[in-house]
Amino acid sequence: MLSDQQSGSGKPPDINDNLVKKPAEIDGMRRAGGFNGRLLDFIRPYVQAGTTTGRLDDLVRQYTLDHGHTPACLGYHGFPKSCCISINNVVCHGIPSGHEYLRDGDIVNVDLTTIVDGYYGDSSETFMLGEVAPQARDLVEVTACALLRGVAAVKPGRPLYAVADAIEPWVRSRGCSVVHQYTGHGIGRMFHEHFTVYHHRDSDEQPILMKPGMTFTIEPMINRGDWKVVTDKKDKWTVRTADGSLSAQFEHTVLVTESGVEVLTLTPSQKQAGAILMVPGMELNSDV
Ligand code: MF3
Ligand code: CO
Ligand code: CO
Repeated sequence: MLSDQQSGSGKPPDINDNLVKKPAEIDGMRRAGGFNGRLLDFIRPYVQAGTTTGRLDDLVRQYTLDHGHTPACLGYHGFPKSCCISINNVVCHGIPSGHEYLRDGDIVNVDLTTIVDGYYGDSSETFMLGEVAPQARDLVEVTACALLRGVAAVKPGRPLYAVADAIEPWVRSRGCSVVHQYTGHGIGRMFHEHFTVYHHRDSDEQPILMKPGMTFTIEPMINRGDWKVVTDKKDKWTVRTADGSLSAQFEHTVLVTESGVEVLTLTPSQKQAGAILMVPGMELNSDV
C-alpha cells in the first residue's frame, strides 16, 4: 500500500490506520468477546474449594469445543492446557493440573481466550474462595477497580497511555503495585497483535492515539507487594511475585467507539450487575 505521502495527498502518514478494524471485523470481535464472556459465566460456579485446576481446564475445553470454537491457549507457544489458572502468589500463566486443588481462602484468576470464527476474545477474573483474608480481598477489589478505571479512560483521540495514567497512580495510592513485565495487547485475528497496552508508564512506549475501531485488552496484574516477578525455571510458564506476595488480575477485551468504549467481553452476569460495572461512555456488547 502507498503511504499518504507517496500518494501525494499531502496528509501526514498515519501509523494508526492499520490498527483500525472494519465493521465486519468488529462484528467478528463482538461474537468472540461475547462467547468468551459466556464461557467465564459458565465456569464461575465450578471455581470452588475442593476442585482441581485441571478439572476446570477440562470443563473450559469441553464447553468451548461443544460450541464449535477453539481454546486459544492450547498449544500457544507450547502452552499445554486450554486456559491459565493462577492462584495466590502466581501472577499469570499458571498451568492447570489435576493435582492442584483449590482451597478456602485462595484468590484464583481464571484467564480464558477463545477463537471464534478466526477472531480472539480474551478476558479473566479473579475469584475469592470462601473466607479470604482482608488483605487479599482488598487486593482483588483494587485490581477490579484498576481494570474499570483503565476501561473508563478509553476514548478516541487519547493516547494509549491514558490507560496507564488511570491505573498506576491510583493502585500505588492503595499500597499495591502494577506488574511491568506483562501488559495488555492489540487483539483481532491474532492473540497478541500490533501494539502493547501498558498499565504503567513505560519509557519505551511509542505514543499511539486511540481511534474508533481499535480493539485491545486491558489486563492489569496487581501485586500486594513489589511489582517484580519471576518465571518458574522448570515449567517456563508459571509467573510468580518475586517477594511471594499475593497477585490479582482482571481482563477485558475492548473496542474504541466514536464516543468512548465498548466492552466486548462483558459477561451476562456482569451485565446484570450493570450499575457497578458501567462507567461514563461505556457501551455494552449487544451480543452478550
Ligand atoms: N490470556 C493471556 C493474555 O491475556 C495469555 C495466555 S498465553 C498462554 O494475554 F499461552 F499462557 F496461554
Ligand atoms: Co490478554
Ligand atoms: Co488473557
